[in-house]
Amino acid sequence: MPRKLIIDTDPGVDDAFAISLAALSEDVDLLGVTTVFGNVPLENTTRNALRVLQLCGRADVPVAAGAHRPLVHPQIARAGHVHGMDGLSGRSAALPEPERELEPGGAVGLLVSLLEAADEPVTITPIGPMTNIALLLAAHPHVKPKIDRIVLMGGGVDRGNSTAAAEFNIWSDPEAARRVLVEEDVPCVMVPLDLTYRCAVDTAWLGKLASTGPIGAALEALTPDYLASYRRALGWDGIVLHDAVAVAEAISPGILRTESYPIEVDTTFGPGRGATLVDRRLPGMRGEGEGATAQGAVQVAVDTDVNGLGEFVLGRLTRPTAAAS
Ligand code: BDR
Ligand code: CA
Repeated sequence: MPRKLIIDTDPGVDDAFAISLAALSEDVDLLGVTTVFGNVPLENTTRNALRVLQLCGRADVPVAAGAHRPLVHPQIARAGHVHGMDGLSGRSAALPEPERELEPGGAVGLLVSLLEAADEPVTITPIGPMTNIALLLAAHPHVKPKIDRIVLMGGGVDRGNSTAAAEFNIWSDPEAARRVLVEEDVPCVMVPLDLTYRCAVDTAWLGKLASTGPIGAALEALTPDYLASYRRALGWDGIVLHDAVAVAEAISPGILRTESYPIEVDTTFGPGRGATLVDRRLPGMRGEGEGATAQGAVQVAVDTDVNGLGEFVLGRLTRPTAAAS
C-alpha cells in the first residue's frame, strides 16, 4: 500500500527537488500539496508548486494556497537572495504552465478534507514556515488521529542559518513552530540543518541528474542562483537539498537515524528568536520546576548514510518512467 503523504511547502529550489522526489516515487500516494509564504511571497511559492507538479506529470495532485504571513508577528524577510527572486533561480517561467487550478478552500481546508477522507494515517511534511500546520492543529484538532507523523525540515541543534541561532523555516514563524513542536501531541520528526548540511550534493551529482532526461534537466536548470549562494556558504561547488532530506524520511521511514529529545522554540525577541532548543542534557538533569523542559519529545534526525541518501534521491528523480508532460 503506497504511503500517504501531504507536503506543505514554500518553493524554493530545494522544495522543488523535494516535491519532485515525492511526485515521482511510485510507492507514495501524494494526496496534496499546500503552499505557504517563505522563501518568496505566497503568490510565487504557489505558482512554483503548481509548475513543479506539472513538470513531473502530476497535475492530478490538488494544490491549495495557505498563509501569506506568520501567525502573530510580521516577518518581512524572504530568501530571494538564496533561491532567486522568483524562488527558482529566475527560471520558474521555464517550467511548464500548470493545467490545474488551485483548490478553492485554501490550504487548511484542503488539509482537513484530505485527512478526513483518509482511510489510513497520513504523513505531513512541512518544508517551509509551519503557519498552515499550526492553524490546522489549532482549529481542527479532530484530524489529529489521522496524522501518522509530521516530518518537518527545520531547526538546528548546534547552529542556525538565518541568524546564529535560528533556522529559516522556524525563524519565519516561531510561534507557529512552537505550537506544533512543543504544544501539540502529534508525533514529530525534526530534520535540522546540522544533518541537511552534511547531505549537500556536488555538481557531479547535479550533472548526473541533468543527463537523465527532461525532468532531471529541468530540475538542474533551477539551481544557478542557489548554487551561487551555497558556493559562498559552503566554500565548494554544491547545494544543500534540505527539504528533500525530510521528504526522503517521510517516504522511507528510518532512512534517517533519529534520537528523542524535548524541544523548546525561542519566541522571545532577543538574539535567540526562532532557535530550536534541543535538550540534550542527561535525562536525569532535565528535572522539574525552573529549568525543566517542556512536555513531550520530538524525534530529531541526527545521522544517515550520506552517500546512500544522495543515491536514493537521485535514483528516484531519474526513474526511467519519469517523463516530462
Ligand atoms: C530551509 O529554508 C529554506 O530556504 C529552504 O527551502 C529550507 O526549507 C532551510 O533552512
Ligand atoms: Ca522550503
